[in-house]
Amino acid sequence: MKMIVEKIVNETPDIRSFRLVRPDGGKLAPYEPGAHVDVTVPGGPTRQYSLCGAPHDECAYTIAVKKEPASRGGSRALHEEVSERSELEVGAPRNLFALDPAANEHVLFGAGIGVTPLLAMAWRLAAEGQAFTLHYFTRGPEHTAFADLLGTPPFARHVRFHYGVKPEEMAHTLDACMNAASPAAHVYTCGPAPFMDAVVACAAKSRGEDAIHLEHFQAAPAAAGAGGDAPFEVMLAGSGATLVVPADRTIVEVLADAGIAIDTSCREGICGTCVVPLLDGTADHRDHCLSKKEKAANDQICLCVSRARSARLVLDI
Ligand code: FES
Repeated sequence: MKMIVEKIVNETPDIRSFRLVRPDGGKLAPYEPGAHVDVTVPGGPTRQYSLCGAPHDECAYTIAVKKEPASRGGSRALHEEVSERSELEVGAPRNLFALDPAANEHVLFGAGIGVTPLLAMAWRLAAEGQAFTLHYFTRGPEHTAFADLLGTPPFARHVRFHYGVKPEEMAHTLDACMNAASPAAHVYTCGPAPFMDAVVACAAKSRGEDAIHLEHFQAAPAAAGAGGDAPFEVMLAGSGATLVVPADRTIVEVLADAGIAIDTSCREGICGTCVVPLLDGTADHRDHCLSKKEKAANDQICLCVSRARSARLVLDI
């Protein structure tokens, strides 16, 4: 839907938050903490941004965007071409990074702009009086978005700021954070890939992978399977048609050539838009949106990046 940028705040020198409202100012669809939306700047690319506003702000979606030096257009356009009253195309909220309702303690690890989905979680956890700690890693106070908000009630007693932690100090710092929580606590992390890898490695020493949750903002290049990519067949259960996916093309591209449009957004295996049920065959999962458990179940596949370990996949489309 079309939304209006109602307010822009410079949270840090390179992070801006955008409060988006409906043109008629009406209520928006509710969302769960950890949810993200697709945002399209007119004439620009579509990118995914976590919703980080207060849950009682029912008439707005708030996102925060860091201007990336290596931006392929998304963050640069939002910083340079969008102003208050600009119009943006915004998708419905989707959540691939939900709080686990079974957990009775939550430890959130965010680095830089990765704090955004964790802020939405903090809002919910604080409102419900749940046990949680947010460990927030940044280069320094001036690079800490939402510092004033997080430094005051109801968040202040739950938030630990970690400024300028060097890579060689990270494992030790994370160990100390993890040891302060109960081994039963669930761990959530979002930030640059090396940071999330360090959090996951640290958390895995004391808890199972079901208790570790992470959110990717940018995909690492998809890894080729052993021996490089090979062609395979996809059969469409609905029509019985069989198509060959060559080594250098994705399933989405091959389906598009055959006139079958699959909804996509990120095309990097992050957003989950292109996931469809898998009826037969073994997927070579290369996405970042399905959990390890979902990948092991082998009953759905992300068509924009994943491939096949078997000669043929049967898709429920
Ligand atoms: S389009 Fe986003 S995961 Fe495939």
